[in-house]
Amino acid sequence: MKPVYCFSILALLQIFTVVVSESNWPTLNFTLEIASRAQRDISKLLPISQITTVGISLSSIFRNSGYTVDALSPLYDLLNGGNEAIMIDLYWNEFTSQWQLCPAPFPSNTTYNMNDVVDLLWENNDYQCQPGLSTENIMGIINSYIRDTNTNIGANFLRILFNLKSIHYENSNRTIDLQNIYKPSILNPVNIGNDTLNDTIASLGSYIFTPTVLSQYQSDASHVEKASSGSSINSTQAISYFYNQSNIIVPSLDTVLLSEYKRVSAHILSNELVNSSRVYQFTSYDTDLIFFNDVVPLVVENTTTGVAGRYCNELFNAYNSTGVDIETFNNLSLTTRLRFIVDSDENPFTVDTLSKFVRCGYSAIFNGTSDVGVNSSLLDFLDEVDEFIPYGFWSWSPGQPVDLNDTNSDSINNASMSSNNTDDSNGNSLAFKCVVLTETGWSVANCYDRHVIACQNLTSRNNWVLQETNKRNYFEIDKGDCPEGYTFSIPRLSTEMLSLQATVKQRNVPYPIWLDLNDITVPNCFVSGGPYAQCPYQRTITTNKFVRMIAPSFAVGVVVLVLILIENIFRTNPIQTNRKRYWKKAIQEYYNKNDFEGVPS
Ligand SMILES: *[C@@H]1O[C@H](CO)[C@@H](O)[C@H](O)[C@H]1NC(C)=O
Ligand SMILES: *[C@@H]1O[C@H](CO)[C@@H](O)[C@H](O)[C@H]1NC(C)=O
Ligand SMILES: *[C@@H]1O[C@H](CO)[C@@H](O)[C@H](O)[C@H]1NC(C)=O
Ligand SMILES: *[C@@H]1O[C@H](CO)[C@@H](O)[C@H](O)[C@H]1NC(C)=O
Ligand SMILES: *[C@@H]1O[C@H](CO)[C@@H](O)[C@H](O)[C@H]1NC(C)=O
Ligand SMILES: *[C@@H]1O[C@H](CO)[C@@H](O)[C@H](O)[C@H]1NC(C)=O
Repeated sequence: MKPVYCFSILALLQIFTVVVSESNWPTLNFTLEIASRAQRDISKLLPISQITTVGISLSSIFRNSGYTVDALSPLYDLLNGGNEAIMIDLYWNEFTSQWQLCPAPFPSNTTYNMNDVVDLLWENNDYQCQPGLSTENIMGIINSYIRDTNTNIGANFLRILFNLKSIHYENSNRTIDLQNIYKPSILNPVNIGNDTLNDTIASLGSYIFTPTVLSQYQSDASHVEKASSGSSINSTQAISYFYNQSNIIVPSLDTVLLSEYKRVSAHILSNELVNSSRVYQFTSYDTDLIFFNDVVPLVVENTTTGVAGRYCNELFNAYNSTGVDIETFNNLSLTTRLRFIVDSDENPFTVDTLSKFVRCGYSAIFNGTSDVGVNSSLLDFLDEVDEFIPYGFWSWSPGQPVDLNDTNSDSINNASMSSNNTDDSNGNSLAFKCVVLTETGWSVANCYDRHVIACQNLTSRNNWVLQETNKRNYFEIDKGDCPEGYTFSIPRLSTEMLSLQATVKQRNVPYPIWLDLNDITVPNCFVSGGPYAQCPYQRTITTNKFVRMIAPSFAVGVVVLVLILIENIFRTNPIQTNRKRYWKKAIQEYYNKNDFEGVPS
């Protein structure tokens, strides 16, 4: 690319960056962006059901702001800010036989404007509802977020979690009256929902990872030969060898995002539909599109019961038993089950409990209105959620990865190794580009320091060996530093991390401990595979400067510009919708090149 061209793009970006950083939108800051991409990439090869995340209950927003379209305005930013699960309370209105978000039925003796906010009374509770609000508003926002992030660098996986409830009435003498008040009315456009459950998410279309796609994957996988467990297997084969022993085989995040081109799945978290003659009847259209508990089992804990807390304490203290209990961890790793913890007004998450739950394998859903703050504005609310996000990683310590190279030298802006290394005042080499395990999680450390290294059993991922006598600096680590059958490695899942930390405690090894993760070749692109591992996004992110430039641009609006730039100029592989255009371009380039070089026939 011509330097002039490049400069003008960077200048353009800078202008947009300035404009955006003056707006009020809270965004995922640069550190968090790097941290979440690194965590996602590390877990990429593992079953998607094992990956833990943080999410938000829309009801907590609605309870605070009313059941209105406006209340959904922070949703895009919440997704952009790292929330990957959305819990939705969905009500089956027995009068109209439709699914709606408002917990109360609309009386049909009044005419509504779709944008009115109506005060409703139902079962002694007051609600403020807008007839114009439907699940379609939510799906619209999710759709645009998915489209805006649909590149191999930005794609993540979302979960929609439904709690099904009823707007129910008993059959009695009052029934006729009630039916008359709340019956669907032709004069009124109070058709605020869909008739079937599958219709409520249908507009997400081909982005949905469905039970049908899963069973297709499972039947394909059963034909593929099982990888052997010999010592010659590489790390990718070792991962699939271990996780293919799961009771229910589920594809990896990588397969789902980059081979199946799916971005979202929908699950029934709870079904509290009241049994009556007017209850919703599930059909095969629903079960083909949405996961029910019998296909991918899930457990939901509430912070109030304390069950999850006790369970996590047991796991964290597994090292107290005579040996590290590998069986317990293996059972967790190989049992396919989504685990959720939902907080409440009485027991809201604190940063500490959030961190603990995520580290012991729960996906945490913010549901307390106190998370929202009863009288607080939406921006306060977003700020509060932002405050928790650094504690939502099972991997990184809060605030990591810190770029300490900046404070040590301003001259580090080059991707080549030699110019990166600086010296401290004593003439010792410094390069803060390698990752250690500390008590609180992963941290960036100086590659030249000598530490114990984490060795993982090739075929048994919760089995770790730490040799206290064998300390190495990061560049010295080689094959011989781990015993036969073990390899220098990194935990790729909360359970693997727990089993490693249990080993550390049981063997009484001091932190820090080297993990196979560094950003030596491209700053802020964390990769495993030793010091010379390549950044998969290398063609995209070529200099430190460029990463810095695009970082603040993960704000609303500019994200679109950046993705267009990345796509057109730096050629990230766009996925799915843009595939055609990409290939067309690639083929065109191939022809151009061959015309130029070719011999006329
Ligand atoms: C990013 O957010 C974290 C936690 O909120 C904070 O500690 C850190 O200083 C922020 N980094 C930047 C570059 O703003
Ligand atoms: C509609 O019906 C409700 C309940 O019976 C009643 O309280 C209200 O006054 C009615 N509204 C109108 C405009 O008739
Ligand atoms: C319901 O209606 C039936 C007959 O129409 C009557 O016998 C009964 O007393 C009524 N029950 C109540 C609770 O009003
Ligand atoms: C679901 O309901 C919404 C709002 O009424 C409507 O726009 C949408 O077309 C419906 N979807 C389907 C698949 O019927
Ligand atoms: C995990 O343990 C439970 C009982 O504790 C058992 O029912 C289940 O089969 C085990 N799962 C695996 C994958 O070993
Ligand atoms: C690795 O784990 C497997 C399964 O638990 C075990 O059979 C094997 O002996 C372990 N390898 C070494 C070298 O200890």
